[in-house]
Amino acid sequence: MKLAFIGIGNVGFAIARNLEKKGHEVIVASDNPASESVRKALESCPGFKVQSVQAAIDAADVVLLAIPFKANETTLPGLHFHGKTLVDCTNPVGPGISHGLNSERSGSERVQELAPDAHVVKAFSIYGFENFADSAFPAYSVLPAMLIAGNDATAKQQVTALATDLGFEAVDTGALSQALHLEHMTLLWVKMVRAGGHSPHFVWAKLGK
Ligand SMILES: NC(=O)c1ccc[n+]([C@@H]2O[C@H](COP(=O)([O-])OP(=O)(O)OC[C@H]3O[C@@H](n4cnc5c(N)ncnc54)[C@H](OP(=O)(O)O)[C@@H]3O)[C@@H](O)[C@H]2O)c1
Repeated sequence: MKLAFIGIGNVGFAIARNLEKKGHEVIVASDNPASESVRKALESCPGFKVQSVQAAIDAADVVLLAIPFKANETTLPGLHFHGKTLVDCTNPVGPGISHGLNSERSGSERVQELAPDAHVVKAFSIYGFENFADSAFPAYSVLPAMLIAGNDATAKQQVTALATDLGFEAVDTGALSQALHLEHMTLLWVKMVRAGGHSPHFVWAKLGK
């Protein structure tokens, strides 16, 4: 698939590099010629293309969003997604590793409001980027789970294919409103790892059907 990445920092780059290795085409969507993350990404992966944000969206089959959650408010309005899949990797994190929208609703539903002509799917959000850079757990016979949520079945099929290529078992948790619970899973992971001393190379798995 042709994939546009809005945000190519820790998360965007880890996903983009591994999906490029699987044969996908990566377009970095950036309107900032001075961007340090874009410069670093191109240095490591010269096969990445760079286009303006709207041109990258226009060219892509799927768009991945991996910028600071607050930046969604200024970046998304005015963009046209033409019904394409927008994968929301962003997390609203508030003070003390709390939910940034006070757990009243999910960040992904806010992203959907800001990008009304996209099919938003929450994915690649419940772990630190370390597990997007390296999702292999060779000592275990089950795959790491990638929990996703969204309202559009076709969009979720596309995201499932990408998650599979990255070495995850995609688990469809239901409608986009489920993203609130995924965001709390993220906070749990972040508290355990970033504050609690657990190794970042740990994931959840789904046992059973
Ligand atoms: N870090 C994790 O382990 C992790 C895991 C899962 C989800 N997330 C979520 O994923 C998102 C990205 O996290 P990250 O760790 O990849 O961040 P990061 O390494 O700081 O990268 C952020 C990216 O967004 C761009 N950006 C920054 N401010 C922007 C703005 N105002 N408008 C447009 N683009 C902007 C940056 O470009 P420049 O270089 O030009 O500033 C960079 O490409 C966040 O929402 C985070 O909560 C993070």
